Formats: sequence, C-alpha cells, structure tokens
Amino acid sequence: MRVALFRDGDGRARATGSICPHRGADLAQGRLVAGRVQCPFHGLEFDGTGRCVRVPSQPPGAPIATGLQLPTYPIVEQQGLLWIWPDPSPPVPSSPASFRGLDASVVPRHYFVRPRTYGGSYLNVVENALDGAHLAFVHTRSVPGAPESTGSWHISMAPDGRGFEALAVADSEQGSTDRPLEMPSRAYLGFAPRLVRPLIEPFLGLDVVVRYTFSYDLSGRVCFHTTYRNGCEDFLFAFLTPSEAEKTLVFAGHSRARGANPVADWAIRSFMEILVEEDGVALDKLSQEARGPAGLMPPAVIPADRTSLPFRRLYGRALRAEEKSVPWALGRSTGEADS
Ligand code: FES
Ligand SMILES: [Fe+2]
Repeated sequence: MRVALFRDGDGRARATGSICPHRGADLAQGRLVAGRVQCPFHGLEFDGTGRCVRVPSQPPGAPIATGLQLPTYPIVEQQGLLWIWPDPSPPVPSSPASFRGLDASVVPRHYFVRPRTYGGSYLNVVENALDGAHLAFVHTRSVPGAPESTGSWHISMAPDGRGFEALAVADSEQGSTDRPLEMPSRAYLGFAPRLVRPLIEPFLGLDVVVRYTFSYDLSGRVCFHTTYRNGCEDFLFAFLTPSEAEKTLVFAGHSRARGANPVADWAIRSFMEILVEEDGVALDKLSQEARGPAGLMPPAVIPADRTSLPFRRLYGRALRAEEKSVPWALGRSTGEADS
C-alpha cells in the first residue's frame, strides 16, 4: 500500500491512495498545489477527499470523469504524530492513546532520530525492544559494560488492558522485591570517550535513577522511562509499525521533563542514534526462517523472555479480536505464550 500524505488548503492532514487513477503515476512523487496533490505525469489535481478537481489538459468547467477518485484513509493528528488507519472501509478504530512522554505540559520538547526500517517482522522488532538480554552483546558501543543479567522486573497490565509496564525492582536475599531498583545514571555516556565523560556529566543534570520502567502498548509504542532522584524524567520511545511482512518502520525519539539542557539532549541523541543502529545490525542477523510467514519465533523461551510474554498475549488477542488473518505477524508459538 502506498499513501500520499499531505495537508489540504485548511492545513488538515490527509492520507489518500497514491496511485493516480489516470495512468497510475505515483502521486507521492507529485507536488502540492494550493492544498491539492498534483500528479507528476499529466498534472491532475486531487483534493483531500480524494476527488479529482482539476484536469489541466481540458477546458475549465468541462466535466471531470467520475472514475478519477482516490481512496482515502482515516488519519488522526495527535501530539505531533500522524496515525493512519490503512483500510478505507469501516470500522475505524478509536484514536490511539495519548502518551505522557509527548505531553507538552510534562515534557517541554521532544525530538525523533532518523526513522529507520528494520529487517524483521513487527513481532521480531517489538520483542527485540522488550528484550534486556541482548544489551551486553548487541549494544557494546551505546551501553558498554551492560550487565549480562537482566535483573528482576515487576510487570503490571495497563488499566485499559491495552498495554503493560515492567518496573526494574531490587533483589533481596529472599528474591525480588516490589521496591524500584536504584542505579547510577551514566548509561547514556557509555559512547563518549572515557576522558570526556567527567567534563560532560556536570552539564547533564542527571542524577541517581530511582525508577526505571519499560512499557508497551498496542498502538505500537515502546517506552523506556527513567525517573531521577532530582525529579527529572527521560522518555526514550519508539513507535513501531509494520511496513511489509518482514520489515518494520521505527520512529524513535526522546523527550525530557524539566528544563532545556542542550548538552543532555546532544548526549542522549548521540546515544540513541548508536542504539538504533546497533539494533538494526542485530536484526539483520536473524535467519530468514525467523522473519518469514512460517514460524517467526523459536520454540524455546529463556527466563529473560518473560518481559515479552505479555506483549505476545496482548498482540495475539488484539489480532483475534479484529478477526483478521495476519499469519506473518503471529508466528507459530504465539498460541503457546497465550496458554
Ligand atoms: S497518470 Fe496521473 S495525471 Fe496522468
Ligand atoms: Fe536493542
């Protein structure tokens, strides 16, 4: 599916099909003329409702052929993000949940790093994002010295049942507790040369981490949320969406509560650029069988995979609720995780 995405004359975001109904040119390669998308081939112009409103080669006022109509897709603009429902027929799902990490009253600003397309199904990519066990082996530049052990997590489902949160908790001699784990805050500086770190640290305004969570919700958002002892909060987030059966688009970004701090922004942004690059390289190493329509996931599960099981349950349930067959997205062992 290819989409032409543009703003109409009123500034409203619109999503239409991008195949010109005249001879099939790609409208997404055309240009915008007074809020209408103009085909690059013969100049036909389409408005936000997908209707052709001008055919330059015919006299003004002459009737326009009725077949010159594009499909349109429901689109919602929310918190600076555009959400498209890729099906022109009803029902349209409700709007995606708003995200505290993009709430301007909480975070004064945010930014996204360069979008990427990862080789891997949506399931592969979300599970990778929820997986702490790969840090020590994949993120050797962004998080050098990451512990091999993934620690203990307390998992709670969101009240609306559309997501979950995993909280890093402290261990005691009796086992894991409900107490949030406290840890130093220097992970973001792992990429910086050792000699430079002491010079940067005073500018970061970071502090001891008093609460660290990661979360997922069915709108395709993964978020790592850090709360520091000084009250500052960092949100490292990614919005993931399948673009093809074996490819997933990644829109990753960062927002920070409290105060402008260009040095901290620069440090975290540099960290994130490396982090997402490393994940792309790791996903490229997946075998073809692991990405394809048949059997996405290995049958064996290790304890560190515990944090991805709620995701698989939620996702499997959502797909069944939609009564849609998306075999490449489910994989053969989703049923096991749900049982
Ligand atoms: S193909 Fe688009 S105007 Fe002819
Ligand atoms: Fe990763």
